[in-house]
Amino acid sequence: MLSSNQIRQLFLDFFKSKGHTIVPSATVVPQDDPTLLFTNAGMNQFKKIFLNLETRDYQRAVDSQKVLRVSGKHNDLEEVGKDHTHHTFFEMLGNWSFGDPKSADGIGKGYFKKETIEFAWEFLTQKAGLDKNRLYATVHISDDEALGHWLKLTSLPKERVQKFEDKYNFWEMGETGPCGPCSEIHYDRGQKHGCGKPTCRPNCDCGRFVEVWNLVFIQYERQADGSLKPLPAKHVDTGMGFERLVHIMQEKDSNYATDLFTPIIKQTEEICGKRYSPDKKEGTSFRVVADHIRALVFTIGDGALPSNEGRGYVVRRILRRAARRGRLLEIHEPFLYKLSGRVIDIMGEAYPDIKQRHEHIAMVIKTEEERFGETLDLGLSLFDQIASKLKASKGTVISGPDTFKLYDTFGFPLDLTQVMAEERGFKVDSEGFKQAMTGQRERARAARGEVAYTAAKEVDYPACIFVGYNSLVQKTRVNGLYIKELSIDKAEKGQTVDITLENTPFYGEGGGQAGDIGFWENPNCRIKILNAVKAFNGSTVHHAEIISGSIKLKDEVTATVDQQARLSTARHHTAIHLLQAALQQIVGKHVQQQGSMVSPKRLRFDFTHFAGLDQMQLDEVEHLVNRKIMDNLPVADQQMKLTEAQKTGAMALFGEKYGEEVRVISCGDFSKELCSGTHVKHSGELGLFKIIKEEAIASGVRRIEAVVGEAAYKQIKQDQMLVAEIQYRLKANREDIVKKLNAQMEELKTLAKAKKEEVKLQQGSLIEGLFKEVKKVEDVQLLVKLLDGFTQDGMREMADKLRVKLPGGIIILASTDEGKFGFTVAVGDELIKSKKFMAGDIAKKIAAATGGKGGGRPQLAQVGGKDEGKLKEQMGKIEGIIFNKL
Ligand code: SER
Repeated sequence: MLSSNQIRQLFLDFFKSKGHTIVPSATVVPQDDPTLLFTNAGMNQFKKIFLNLETRDYQRAVDSQKVLRVSGKHNDLEEVGKDHTHHTFFEMLGNWSFGDPKSADGIGKGYFKKETIEFAWEFLTQKAGLDKNRLYATVHISDDEALGHWLKLTSLPKERVQKFEDKYNFWEMGETGPCGPCSEIHYDRGQKHGCGKPTCRPNCDCGRFVEVWNLVFIQYERQADGSLKPLPAKHVDTGMGFERLVHIMQEKDSNYATDLFTPIIKQTEEICGKRYSPDKKEGTSFRVVADHIRALVFTIGDGALPSNEGRGYVVRRILRRAARRGRLLEIHEPFLYKLSGRVIDIMGEAYPDIKQRHEHIAMVIKTEEERFGETLDLGLSLFDQIASKLKASKGTVISGPDTFKLYDTFGFPLDLTQVMAEERGFKVDSEGFKQAMTGQRERARAARGEVAYTAAKEVDYPACIFVGYNSLVQKTRVNGLYIKELSIDKAEKGQTVDITLENTPFYGEGGGQAGDIGFWENPNCRIKILNAVKAFNGSTVHHAEIISGSIKLKDEVTATVDQQARLSTARHHTAIHLLQAALQQIVGKHVQQQGSMVSPKRLRFDFTHFAGLDQMQLDEVEHLVNRKIMDNLPVADQQMKLTEAQKTGAMALFGEKYGEEVRVISCGDFSKELCSGTHVKHSGELGLFKIIKEEAIASGVRRIEAVVGEAAYKQIKQDQMLVAEIQYRLKANREDIVKKLNAQMEELKTLAKAKKEEVKLQQGSLIEGLFKEVKKVEDVQLLVKLLDGFTQDGMREMADKLRVKLPGGIIILASTDEGKFGFTVAVGDELIKSKKFMAGDIAKKIAAATGGKGGGRPQLAQVGGKDEGKLKEQMGKIEGIIFNKL
């Protein structure tokens, strides 16, 4: 029996022998396709070739692609674990032909339907050794050509080549993109897996027939309006489910019974102490865990991190679903991170990246498991309560607010609540959930008082082209004037308006860089520019205050950017590039930008990294950036094609849409990044780089704040003044500060110790004195005393001592402080035993009488109140309160 590693190799070698180039898998986290959440098909990395936007120097390719199908058109998440053949993460084996055949029979050239079918048949029946009698082919209802090839080139009888409509035999990547008719190969797992209906055949959902291989003939591009546009050339895109192939070749009856999964299941058994039996209810949990851990290892291995948005949220959802399955298997500790080791044992040979990043992967998983673990049990019991109530009231829908509470307080993603609801035959009000979520966001925004200036979405601003990379002054004309979203012809002194110009030297806020400020003038007016922003249509909108005169459409103005502010912003922007390169060098290649902000005053850089940076790392990073500043590296900008930029290794932002032509900023050889911001000419202009702080802003995302130039100088100056102040206060020389400080702290410690001893002595004599004031009331020894100047702790300590000495006594000590008051109530053990008096109850009574708050244990309790007058008023009545005489 071949191992899964051997089977993968068998496939690659077979197609290599047919003139195909072996291409490595693309990352499962797409690198340069912001339209795609995760790689969901082998063809993703070749999409641009199909669309004629890119060429390769080969026409035939073969690969094994890492794929995740958890959203959109291709989403298998809900099937996972319920059956034995669907996965979130899986490997897709594919062979490819790009473009039309260049010559009829030349090896290595493009091919189409005939060869595709021939290759597939030869591989499955001769290399993989599949039983011909169990194979079926399907073709698109209109595809007589493919049907003819199947009948002519293979030994499949007519009844085992079947036609299906679009739903089954027309493949599309997503709502738009390359697509075409396809031909699928199905394997008959045998009657025992089937429904037995006479209509049972491939595509029946009983599970008897499993789709093994999909041969897609890419001919069209689906347009946004739904129409099909023929492509300039035809291509072949095939995708075979690797786990299914292994399942058949290893003669198992489940993907989970192959060597791709058994070690994971075995370790899960060891951890939970239960046996996996596929047909029991718990079998589903074993399978979900085994599936999800692979998805986690590969997504995190490719740089994704659990978070609350986008890709990160998918990772978080998968992890939380798996963690909850762990609870169903009665595992109450983090365990998924342990299983990551099995995945790496199984797959590390084919995908060495995960081996290298194992430590990181395990740490990310463990941290997230711990985090969710804190609230998981509470959330599950809340869910149980909700479900029981619902059942009792014969309801069927879990409400929006309940679902939101599970999400917000206990970290249950909506889809997890949905799965749990479904298991009990309930539904979830997902609309209500969304409303609760929006409501909360709005409240939070209002609480933060956020009203950032943005250009109105509704306005189609006239083009206002940025021309300010190299000059800060521009004579130009007004082409748009607005008050909020309303277009106007003229604005006058005192008004605040939005203005567009034919072209502008002002950089509009975007890509994390603050907008320019400055002023405009002509003989009739002077205008202050408060901010410039990029509008939704790409135009630059200036938020402006008319200082004097008036301005109307078509007027000519001289627009001048505030040079100091621009330069200061540019310094911070170049610094961010140096910082990112330094972090990658010192902290690691996994550091990736998650967000950034540059203004004239400072920079903020958010990046992926799992733990806090220690002082040594921060020092090293700071030092490296400063060395690069001293090296006075030339900072250059270059326009180039995106593909060319990627070849040079320039860093690009994940999720950012880049055009065909991009701008690359390089700082010597140290850093190279795609960027449209403004920069200095030489790194030396930054002067000095100083990190101000480093902190976590989300799980796996760190933030560094730093300053350069004037701002860094000011920061250092401030620190220096602080030192001078300390020096002055300590009356010490700079060199002696620490020594003197240490000496003073020692002295303070000694003093505090002496003070404590003194208090104890005083307490001793005080306690003696207090004994004399104990009265007998109804067999109880009662002490009520106002002790001003004592802290709460001091009173408690004293009351505690007194109660030990007065087992049959009640002690009430009161004190006041700045208008507030406090009581400490203590009851001796004998009295407690008699159950007549409890300190907590007495405290409550006193609280009620004095308008304070109180409570505590039977031995010791406290009351606090705000009105000193009330205390004085009630002091004499305490006895009555305790003995219910009032
Ligand atoms: N693109 C097709 C699929 O993903 C074949 O590779 O199924």
